[in-house]
Amino acid sequence: MHPLTPQDVVSAVKEIGALPQTLATVLKVVDNPDSRADDIAAVINCDVSLTSRVLKMVNSVRYGRSRKVAHVSEAVRVMGLNSIKVLTLSSSVFGIRPDDELFQQLNIKRIWRHFIETAIVARNIAEDIDYRDPEEAFVTGLLHDIGIVIMMLHFKKDYLGVIETLKAKRTGVISAELELWPFTHCDVGAAIAESWKLPSRVIHVIRHHHDISSPAIIPDDDLLNAIIAAADRIALGPFDHYTSGVEDDIMFVQTAREKIGLNHETLKNVRKKSLIQSIELADYLELDAGDVIEVLADANDRLAELYFSLEQILIDKNALENRPAMVGRSA
Ligand SMILES: [Fe+2]
Ligand SMILES: [Fe+2]
Repeated sequence: MHPLTPQDVVSAVKEIGALPQTLATVLKVVDNPDSRADDIAAVINCDVSLTSRVLKMVNSVRYGRSRKVAHVSEAVRVMGLNSIKVLTLSSSVFGIRPDDELFQQLNIKRIWRHFIETAIVARNIAEDIDYRDPEEAFVTGLLHDIGIVIMMLHFKKDYLGVIETLKAKRTGVISAELELWPFTHCDVGAAIAESWKLPSRVIHVIRHHHDISSPAIIPDDDLLNAIIAAADRIALGPFDHYTSGVEDDIMFVQTAREKIGLNHETLKNVRKKSLIQSIELADYLELDAGDVIEVLADANDRLAELYFSLEQILIDKNALENRPAMVGRSA
């Protein structure tokens, strides 16, 4: 068994001091039950680039509302302490610059785009079903794969091994991770989220977004997990080009859709408007997530993959249906 555990990852991240000073202070202020909105605003205001990213994110979460939020203190009030905490953390994730080796091996644009698109699809689903807190869906979407980012940055060699396995076997990221360790990016993400004292519902989703079959104890946790799980599959994934298994994807989205109570047509519309909004948001955040042509090319590649997978399924199905008749004829 591999000696590494999610707890080792948490300790390593703590030792390395992965969190920038401002962020560590933000977490400390949010964890203090006596903190007020102005206290957290004061800490965020100390960091110019964090302030700008948080304001841009808040305004994009509140997309379509007439009045823009201009000050961090107002942002904290409209988002609530828990959401602003998750939003601040994800803002700092987008500030990460991987080294050259990682940059060459991974298409980092695809990863940033996946986070943004998952967040936007999740918010659109949440609004369509009148989920009580679409902002919570957005920030959870942004952070759902934090385990991948942490592993890439702090256990680079191990994670490059996962990418190699993915390329060679095309079995999906979870199976590739489980070939190397007895845990996945979901366990690592949840362990980190617990150590950051994120809201329990967000931790639940980070841990279970690839597993929607076992019901959560709290129904709201279950609903948010189904929203993020569906959004995760609908958004272009960072490793889609190394993955096959369209049948599993279809069944997974269908199960999530039934749990959410969303019809097929609505989901189709959500997907359509989310793609445009994702490109707009990446642009607004000045994040290099690829231009429209790159995004459309990736979406097109994914469609071609789906087509060929479906074609294979049909060929296999026909072969199976014809088999008894062929046996009959030869006998
Ligand atoms: Fe994931
Ligand atoms: Fe994901």
